[in-house]
Amino acid sequence: MSDPYFQKLFAERLGGANYGKGTEIYKFEKIKRAKRKALADRPERKLIDFGIGENDEMAAEPVRRVMAEALNRPENRGYADNGIAEFKEAVARFMKHQFGVELDPDGEINHCIGSKTALAMLPATLINPGDVTLMTVPGYPVAGTHTTYYGGEVYRLPLLKENDFFPDLDSIPSDILQRAKLLVINYPNSPTGKVAGEEFFARVVDFARSNEIVVVQDAAHIMLTFDGKPLSFLQTPGARDVGVEVHSLSKGWNMIGWRMGWVCGHRRLVGAFADVKDNCDSGQFIAVQKAAAAALDNDDITRRIREKYHRRLTKLVEVLRRCGFDCHVPGGSYFLYTPSPKSIVSGPAFDNAEAAAQYLIAEHSICTVPWDDAGAYLRFSVTYEADDEAAEDQLMAETESRLKQIQPVF
Ligand SMILES: Cc1ncc(COP(=O)(O)O)c(C=O)c1O
Repeated sequence: MSDPYFQKLFAERLGGANYGKGTEIYKFEKIKRAKRKALADRPERKLIDFGIGENDEMAAEPVRRVMAEALNRPENRGYADNGIAEFKEAVARFMKHQFGVELDPDGEINHCIGSKTALAMLPATLINPGDVTLMTVPGYPVAGTHTTYYGGEVYRLPLLKENDFFPDLDSIPSDILQRAKLLVINYPNSPTGKVAGEEFFARVVDFARSNEIVVVQDAAHIMLTFDGKPLSFLQTPGARDVGVEVHSLSKGWNMIGWRMGWVCGHRRLVGAFADVKDNCDSGQFIAVQKAAAAALDNDDITRRIREKYHRRLTKLVEVLRRCGFDCHVPGGSYFLYTPSPKSIVSGPAFDNAEAAAQYLIAEHSICTVPWDDAGAYLRFSVTYEADDEAAEDQLMAETESRLKQIQPVF
């Protein structure tokens, strides 16, 4: 196929004139292809899918009921712009009740169409060409991608086991620190499952203030905290002076597809976010905002989801430990992040986690997600489909029997 006349017009941020010609296949596409091949090659063998990072259930019935009603009301039909007061007030109640954090719904809270969009827009508020965003890796890369779109740079902070999966803020070179405007952290962390305590958040506030850096704390998994009570960054003294926290209804309320979240914290930063957002979208459908407000007022929903994923992680850890993995129930999230095997007894050796993940899916129809950014790790998600606890137990028994035959070596 010959190139269209506009091939040379693509922006450098997408690869310029080479856009669309690369042969590199991204990790998640490789996994999808390997899954399709495993299903085609071994149709009789059940695919055990620990790869999906999406809740396996739909939103709770009371939330769907509010949605169904709101959907049919003519007053909900229009542009929602930067959001309705009813949702912001529900967020303020939730933040107070859950974390003891007082926020002014009119100025310190703004909704977003899922937290991904907020993380994509926040760099627009601060990043000029040459500015730096500090980002932890492995992690959710969206704020970094948009930093580079604006001509900024990303400085990667590895999350290593020897640092207890916290970034080493003291290791950042001074020339980077001088250009750094944004620090993006994410706790409970995806994929490591690490939960931050008051001490780490206090260190972040101090670091941000002394280096004049804005903090974005991505709290997408906050209601899936198993290690103590969920902790908001905004509970930390001084946190509101240095940044914002981004929340999502996706994971903690089974509302992945509904696209609803919020940004809260410093009034000037929330206002800057709202200005950028106002130039990108016209707000989430008001019916969705009303349903989300009802969800925030219902503690039962998050409790049940948290208990379910904690139960599943506990079962998975027991199975994996019996098969030689060195793992523990994570502090939060629905992911188990565990060192990848180096080889298989009387089988292949693996150069990295990606090779191990490819082997598991191709030879044993077990799907995981490999991470090689800061050591070789496999991520097992417990969002697999299973109708009841008996089905979960059956899936665990099948996982154990396949992994025991393999005999992984670490
Ligand atoms: C760490 C983290 N942040 C943010 C998101 C985005 O979530 P959403 O856009 O559904 O709110 C995800 C989703 O996978 C995530 O894992």
